[in-house]
Amino acid sequence: MGREAASSFARWFALEGMPVQPRLVAVADLNEDALAWFRGVPGVDLLTTDYKELLASPDVEVVYAAVPHNLHLEIYEAVLESGKDLLGEKPFGIDLSAAERIAAGAGSRFVRCASEFPYFPGAQAVIEEVRDGRLGRILEIVAGFHHSSDLDPEKAANWKRRSATCGEIGVMGDLGMHVLHVPLRLGWRPRSVYAQLQKGYPERPGGRCDTWDNATVHTWVEGGGQEIPMRLEMKRMAPGETNTWFLEVLGTDGGARFSTREPKTLWRFRRGARQEWSRTDLGFGTPFKTITGGIFEPGFPDILQQMWAAFLAERAGSLGERFGCARPAEAVAAHRVFAAALESHREEKTIVMEHADE
Ligand SMILES: NC(=O)c1ccc[n+]([C@@H]2O[C@H](COP(=O)([O-])OP(=O)(O)OC[C@H]3O[C@@H](n4cnc5c(N)ncnc54)[C@H](O)[C@@H]3O)[C@@H](O)[C@H]2O)c1
Repeated sequence: MGREAASSFARWFALEGMPVQPRLVAVADLNEDALAWFRGVPGVDLLTTDYKELLASPDVEVVYAAVPHNLHLEIYEAVLESGKDLLGEKPFGIDLSAAERIAAGAGSRFVRCASEFPYFPGAQAVIEEVRDGRLGRILEIVAGFHHSSDLDPEKAANWKRRSATCGEIGVMGDLGMHVLHVPLRLGWRPRSVYAQLQKGYPERPGGRCDTWDNATVHTWVEGGGQEIPMRLEMKRMAPGETNTWFLEVLGTDGGARFSTREPKTLWRFRRGARQEWSRTDLGFGTPFKTITGGIFEPGFPDILQQMWAAFLAERAGSLGERFGCARPAEAVAAHRVFAAALESHREEKTIVMEHADE
């Protein structure tokens, strides 16, 4: 993910009217081979295997931290203590208590959690349909992220497949913040959780694996004075899917759905004489304007750059009405759902959430 960030900055000139110009000046990675890749990136003055050396550099204002989940707490806290701002990768701590500690340490620093999929024009259009009230009374929400990354039993056991390094929450730590960012921002905070969790292969080349691979989490949320069922799906064993993020909201007057399977397409339903969904090709209508023509289709590197644009614009006070990156409080709220999901699955019961911090 560090290389993806470098790639976003390297073509920053594609964005129009941005108030900020990031410069990648320093990179830390324990792995010399990973570090060596950044020698090809112009402007990087410091390459180090010791992240503390990077944090000591006065040239560094913002740190993007993308490391295994067991290192989030130590490294994010060190970033904040060094006085730098932080874009921390999800899940923002290996568990709820780590996320709470990171959030508490943010102080006056500008801190956000990475989540790029809402920057697809189709995701933005679904958000707009909801915010404008065009769907009527909301009947149902489905948000999810499907991979098939763990279907292949020959794939090696790496840190993402072990609870000690990925977290006991497993796939929820991997994909859950992506799934919950939009619902939480729209005010749909689960008040009860019932979860079904499944494990993947216990043995892989390179060792044992013990993480949850698939999670289906049924929740109740409140919206417009009504109770709404919201289903969250996070799967690393979803046959046929490579990196499918989706959001569907159905209401009494209309529906809206977007999936990265069709990256430029918005599906909309309007109540009428016939039961009909309509398809709109949205093209390149990203929140931050770019040189790319409106007819073209956006992809993963584009939305990552949009997320960076949102992070840096909000930090500079010029986000305006545009959609902001996930806040520390949202990362903590997501972790509360994951912790409740673990308990729900373990006890095979519905967990009623206490929102003591509201
Ligand atoms: N936003 C997204 O779409 C997205 C996608 C994939 C991963 N992620 C997140 O990014 C983070 C990293 O995932 P990844 O897929 O890039 O993992 P990765 O294993 O490819 O990379 C992690 C890097 O961290 C380095 N590292 C480990 N310990 C370190 C230390 N003490 N100091 C400095 N570097 C150290 C490793 O050498 C490795 O190069 C995770 O939090 C993951 O959830 C986000």
